[in-house]
Amino acid sequence: MMNRKLSQSRRNFIKTAGFTTIAAASGLGGQIGFAQSTGRRSSFDQEYNRIGVNSIKWDAAIKRYGRDKIKQPMGIADMDFKVHPAITTAIKKRAEYEIYGYETVDDGYYQSIIDWNKERYGLDLKKEWIRNSSALKPGIVSALRGLNPVKGKVILQTPTYSGFRGAINQAGMTIEMNPMKKVNGRWHMDLEDLENRLDYQTKCLILCNPNNPSGECWSADELRALGDVCMRHGVTILSDEIWCDFVRDGGRYTPYASIGEKYANTSITFKSVSKSFNQASLKVAYFFTRNEDLMNATMIGGGHETGTNVFGQIAAEAAYREGAQWLNDVNAYLDENFAYLVDYINRPGEMPGIKYSRPEGTYVAWLDCNGLKEKIATPDHVRALHDKWKAEGNHRRVTPEMVMGEWFVENTGVQLNAGDSYGIGAEGFMRMNITVPRHQLKAALESINTALKAL
Ligand SMILES: Cc1ncc(COP(=O)(O)O)c(C=O)c1O
Repeated sequence: MMNRKLSQSRRNFIKTAGFTTIAAASGLGGQIGFAQSTGRRSSFDQEYNRIGVNSIKWDAAIKRYGRDKIKQPMGIADMDFKVHPAITTAIKKRAEYEIYGYETVDDGYYQSIIDWNKERYGLDLKKEWIRNSSALKPGIVSALRGLNPVKGKVILQTPTYSGFRGAINQAGMTIEMNPMKKVNGRWHMDLEDLENRLDYQTKCLILCNPNNPSGECWSADELRALGDVCMRHGVTILSDEIWCDFVRDGGRYTPYASIGEKYANTSITFKSVSKSFNQASLKVAYFFTRNEDLMNATMIGGGHETGTNVFGQIAAEAAYREGAQWLNDVNAYLDENFAYLVDYINRPGEMPGIKYSRPEGTYVAWLDCNGLKEKIATPDHVRALHDKWKAEGNHRRVTPEMVMGEWFVENTGVQLNAGDSYGIGAEGFMRMNITVPRHQLKAALESINTALKAL
């Protein structure tokens, strides 16, 4: 269960306390240069150049569309914010010792995982339940391989993270989509449909908690209801909780492993610091289960990398040990970005064709752009893009969402993720990553608004 007191007090604390008070309370003292010189949250207002460092968000977009076309990439899920200085300090310190031979994993790393999950979410973990992987996906691939019959079916509750499809394909399994239902702006699991889809070939369901892209933080009741269906059919839940540290003000993340012993015993949870502390390229993640049989099967699956990168481990430990307040600050800043976005989109007459309401978690906005399809992504437009790409030697199947993606770049300079890859229910949606300085968010929205009004 989440440490409620911490969650509820975090934004109020940030809102009311001056920096000196915060620094003293968090034990950060005078070490944190960025906070001293600029104030904690305003540091996220500062632009940090990501061009020329092989960033997928910036450099890959520029390579694809050209520097003149890309004003604001808002696609792949990492943040345009500098990491907590403790991470850089720890990496520099390790780099001073100039041998990088074979090493074991330091106990301090495991302890930081145990402490973080206990202190922040009230979750009790034991070291022997935890294994490492180089990223989340390899761990999931291992579990899928270990737990499924050859070519077994794996359930995805869609719309959900597009990378799961790659993981399932990589493991040699088949995807079975269990589309969710949208009721009053929130997506809900369809357990009746799920139950009808479960058969002897189905041994795993990948849960995304909180859900990327639509942001739901699943409640304990929702999770138990899901777990009950899965248990009745002998289905193991692989709970991807990579987004757990991004919960909007007033929301609550419930670890699947916290809702009861029988649920914990029939699941594996996958986590990482990579999203939370913006260190995806340092390649370290972990997964845990208290069920030894599930863990053994996963280890036999073997797609994970037990030997993770030493810099990744050191960075992860530094982040978990020193980054709690930084993460609170990021969340508070993102609450304000979301508030700005929601207000802007819902102003009468503005952003015609786009619908959006505030999510419960994550830092991506799942924009309903169905109102634009008729103008931007007609069958003729789809055909035209198909012909253009074909002439360039690109034989991908073209979807209306891809057409919208190209339109946004061409007409607004803003790059978004096309919704189609998130599965059934994602038609007409585009995903916007809002982890950018606020003035950049404002400029991107102005640009989109102007282009939409001119349509
Ligand atoms: C739900 C989810 N799982 C996993 C990943 C990727 O994690 P990794 O890079 O550690 O494989 C992402 C990245 O966006 C994600 O959204």
